[in-house]
Formats: sequence, C-alpha cells, structure tokens
Amino acid sequence: MTLTAAPAQLPLRPGSATDVFAYNGSIPGPTIEAHEGDRVIIHFRNELPEPSTIHWHGLHIPATIDGSPFHPVAPGGQFDYVFTVKPGAAGTYWYHPHPHNRSGYQIAKGLYGAFIIRADDDPLPPSIPEKLLVLSDNRFLADGSFDFPESHSLHGRIDTENGREGDVLFVNGEVEPTLAIRSGEVQRWRVINASGARVYRLALTGHSFLHIANDGGLFERPVEVSEILLANAERVELLVRGTGAPGSRATLQAQPYDRYVPQTRPADWSRTRDVLTLQYSAEAPAAPVILPEVLRPIPRLDPALATDTRLMVLTQGLINARSMDLGRVDVSAPLGATEIWQIENLVGMDHPFHLHGFQFQVLDRNGVAEPFRSWKDTVNVPRHSTVRFVVRYDDYPGKWMFHCHILDHEDMGMMGVLEIT
Ligand code: C2O
Ligand code: CU
Ligand code: CU
Repeated sequence: MTLTAAPAQLPLRPGSATDVFAYNGSIPGPTIEAHEGDRVIIHFRNELPEPSTIHWHGLHIPATIDGSPFHPVAPGGQFDYVFTVKPGAAGTYWYHPHPHNRSGYQIAKGLYGAFIIRADDDPLPPSIPEKLLVLSDNRFLADGSFDFPESHSLHGRIDTENGREGDVLFVNGEVEPTLAIRSGEVQRWRVINASGARVYRLALTGHSFLHIANDGGLFERPVEVSEILLANAERVELLVRGTGAPGSRATLQAQPYDRYVPQTRPADWSRTRDVLTLQYSAEAPAAPVILPEVLRPIPRLDPALATDTRLMVLTQGLINARSMDLGRVDVSAPLGATEIWQIENLVGMDHPFHLHGFQFQVLDRNGVAEPFRSWKDTVNVPRHSTVRFVVRYDDYPGKWMFHCHILDHEDMGMMGVLEIT
C-alpha cells in the first residue's frame, strides 16, 4: 500500500477546520493489518514541507527500515518499507514519524496509525467482535488551529517539561464517540496510547476488564483488572464482558494519574475525563461466550543468560547525563546476546522508556517481581523508581534508538543509540 504524508485541513472540532498533517488524508492514518509470515510493502511518499520517516513502533524488523532518525526521507521524497512479519509477532502496534527533533510536532499534527498483526492460530473465538481504540489528545486555539506555543514562552517551557498535553481527547480521531455492545456479548478491544504525553488510567464504569495482551501480543492467560495504566506508546488488548442490562450505558473514563513534577503539574490534573460511551442495545442478552483459559505460551528470556547489565539513569531530558547524538553509539552489543537493562528514574516525574527493534520482558519494578510474563517494547518508569527488563538481540544488527516516549523529551534529546554488531 501507499502511505502519503501531506498537509490537509480536517474538521477535528465542530465549526472549524484545522491545518493538520495526515497519512492519506485521515487522522488516524489507515489501519494496516497483516498476518504473521506476510511480506509487507509500504510505499511512503513524503509530501510534507519537512523531512519525515515512518517508524513501525514495536515491530521486530531490520534497522534500515525502522524509520529511525538515521533514515530521513526528504520533502518530496519517497521510500519503500519492505519487511516480513515474523511468526509470534501477532499483536497491536502502531506507526508514526521519527525525524530528528520533530517527532512530537509531526505526531501532534496528526501523523499516527495502527498496525495490527494477526496469527492464524489466535486462541480467541473469531465470533468476538473487535474494536480498535487509538487514543490521542490535542489542544486548540480559538480559531480552531492547533496550539503549539512558542518554545521559549511560559507555556512552551511547561510543555517541554510535562510533555504537551491537550484538553481534547480523541478516540480514532473522534471526541467521546459511542461504541455499541449487546448485553452478554464479549468484545476484544485493542487500545493504543498515541498521545505525546498524556498517560491514561482507564476504567469502564460498572465493568472490569480481562487484560489479555501487552505491546507485543497475548499473555499466557487472561488477568482480571479493574483499571489499566497506559503510558505513551503502550498498547493493551482487553476483553470487555457485556455485563450491563439491555439499553443501559457505561463510560470509559481516564481517571487522574499523577505523573508530573509539582512545579508544572496542570491545575486540573485530578479531573476524571470521559473517553467514550458504551451503549447497550435493546436486544435480549446474547448467549454466553466460552473464553479460553490459556492463550499462548510465552518463552521465558532467562536473565541468568545475560552477559551484561545496561544501567540507564534518567534525569530530566537526559539519559546517563547525555543528550542524543546521532554520531555517538551509547551501547554496543553482539547480535544474539541476552542482556538486562536497568532503568533508574532519579527525578520526580514518570518517563516511559522505549527500545526499538526488540521486544523485552520486564523482570521487576522497584524490586517487585513482575507477576507474569509479557512482551513489551515500552515500559513506564515512575518517578524515583527502577525497572529492570531482559532482552535478546535476535536477528537484526544495526543501530537502534532507545528513548523516553514523552515526545517532547525524545525531541529534546532524551534518547540514545544501541548498536548491535
Ligand atoms: Cu514510538 Cu522511537 O518510537
Ligand atoms: Cu519505536
Ligand atoms: Cu521523559
């Protein structure tokens, strides 16, 4: 398929059109679906007035087509991203631009989309309806244009510190949409946090969730939870059981989550925000669905095999006291090595940490062992805490980025380079 990034005008808010950047004219961009084993060919055309890339967030593909800042596509230029989807990769991913210093701006302007990989042996009954929820937020001026404050203004400096948050929440580009469900039905929700800085603590009134997948796909078994914390760039899959009565409704809410330093914490941070309405149809309840108790095996990455531990100390805008330099390699390791990464957040706000190219397994958070295995590529590291994960550098040599996924922090240089040789 072809993805063209170009300026456009879209009616994001009632009564006005906004100057945006969009893939193929829509926000989010087209949802891309592939199966394990598929060969994917994306023709990218950059019709933006500035360099861009498409980064395939979370996908395990060669470094040369990772769409990192090492491989910018000039305005008016084109590039073909061609790769084969590995077996076991089924899950919910997303794509977004990753040019040097401009990722946050281009994503906020509207460049992001979902990438779903399916397995032929998916353990969930195919009769379960599936919903995709791409979450984003934005901020507007009175004339309907996006609010991007001048970087040295007070508001600009607050955005740099907190990450740019917006007061208008979108689901698939719509404000507070309504989702239909039938009583008794079970739905599979794939949720992507495509926001530059907003962290979502999601809860559905009157319902719990069965949490079945993280960034890199299904768990070994479902886990019942009352809420989900979804940091920037993270994804989850949830089973929503339609326990409500015919004709009733429920609200998916973003509950307050304090990820901020006190000095720049927004005054209204503790407000609960409505994200979408779940509307039950009047139909009589559907017949119960039998859900599998076991989803798929997840091979364990054994930390005892680790040949090195990489210490990453996060401070405001810096990793190990350094700012991003494309000409520097921060970590180098041999192809196939297993390593532990220890991410220490020394400061008073959260930083969601992302590694390109390789899915990892979280070992512990602040010394508390992770209760079950899952594949992840992004993990939130809350203020003054330490997260450890284990990763194996399979298949693909080359230079890979790691960074904070608060996009303002990433663009400021809170990023480094891992070279696999
Ligand atoms: Cu969502 Cu460097 O990536
Ligand atoms: Cu990425
Ligand atoms: Cu950060």
